[in-house]
Amino acid sequence: MSQPLTASRSAHISGRVKVPGDKSISHRALILGALATGRTRIDGLLDSEDVLATARVVAALGAIVSQKDGVVEVLGQGVGGLRAPEGPLDFGNSGTSARLMLGVVAGHDMCASFTGDASLSRRPMGRVLEPLTAMGLSVEGEGDTLPLTVRGTADLIPIEYVLPVPSAQVKSSVLLAGLHAPGRTTVIEPLSTRDHTERMLAYFGAELDIEELDDGARAITLCGDAELRGAALIVPGDPSSAAFLVAAALICPDSEIVVENVLLNPTRTGFFETLQEMGAEIEVLDPRQEGGEPVGDLRVKTSALKGVRVPPERAPSMIDEYPVLAAVAAFSDGETRMEGLAELKVKESDRLAATAEGLAACGVDVEVDDDVLIVRGARTVKGGAEVATHLDHRIAMAFLTLGLGAEEPVTADDGSMIATSFPGFAALMSGLGARIA
Ligand code: S3P
Repeated sequence: MSQPLTASRSAHISGRVKVPGDKSISHRALILGALATGRTRIDGLLDSEDVLATARVVAALGAIVSQKDGVVEVLGQGVGGLRAPEGPLDFGNSGTSARLMLGVVAGHDMCASFTGDASLSRRPMGRVLEPLTAMGLSVEGEGDTLPLTVRGTADLIPIEYVLPVPSAQVKSSVLLAGLHAPGRTTVIEPLSTRDHTERMLAYFGAELDIEELDDGARAITLCGDAELRGAALIVPGDPSSAAFLVAAALICPDSEIVVENVLLNPTRTGFFETLQEMGAEIEVLDPRQEGGEPVGDLRVKTSALKGVRVPPERAPSMIDEYPVLAAVAAFSDGETRMEGLAELKVKESDRLAATAEGLAACGVDVEVDDDVLIVRGARTVKGGAEVATHLDHRIAMAFLTLGLGAEEPVTADDGSMIATSFPGFAALMSGLGARIA
């Protein structure tokens, strides 16, 4: 059932908060934990619908997942040691989980059916099925969307694969399959995408070789027939969730917040860099390493912002942050031009269209030109609209954030999807002084 949420003009957003754990790292921690031998202990795992879907799926494949005092423990079955599920695997809204697990199932001699909600059932799986079938996965039927039934094999073929789209999910899916293949599997990425899979594979004991090529591309080579050992992990705060708090503090008058323990991996920080170029007062306090990832606390103050050009090569490092950047751009002086956004069309919704529609409904001067989004900002934004969220958590949160700075309240027609990535979003925002009800 849909649950509308409404955000009204707010000021004095203030306080110190922590955001929930990073979603990308949480999925990977459960998956590598299931493929390792022995126990993996995960502190700070994101307790959201998407991550729960991954936990249920790895449990259906034979890993034992338990929780005690906020720490999740996975008893893994070893690379190649998972068993066939008794029923269909339901991935809910999570594209990351479905695509990564296709890579895992590829390397097991088993049949599995993958299902998901209406949003996930529209998203392209061909991008992972293409390299995985080259490695030996069989797919029943012709389609490249869920529901899908696939058969893996214990005799996968290692491949060298150049990513045709900048996607960490595709890279990760091929590398996870490569764990079970004899020999070396290489993924070449022309533009760097989030590298949590590589970092975590190395942390669990896999042999990886990462090379920077002459043209700036990265070649990631994994030695197959790998053995992973269970490990202890700490999941840092999700920068893609912190983005909404940071944006709210920037656009609401007289605000100052500190968001603690935010993941600051350079493959994820494009949004904060862009905001700084726009004139945002964002300071990184106490930069440090935790669990093999850079983290820090972000101090943010209300700032007068100006529009900028966001180049296409930056897109992978902030791909989930464009809707909220567009909301911030609406309050900035001049034009913000966001280029190279083709991938936004195949997220939980067509985020390019959903963002443009929502902005236009709120009275913002916005234009889409192929894969470019142009927002012409003004100091005041009218708001006063009900925005269609299209089963997309980030569209809901981006427009609620916009509503905090707008003249008239903004309603997200369905806030229930927010639980896929940021449980407690509305309560956490309200605790800082934001008016969301
Ligand atoms: C993710 C990769 C990105 C991102 C998604 C999480 C991941 O997707 O949008 O929210 O954890 O690997 P793509 O790989 O499709 O760019």
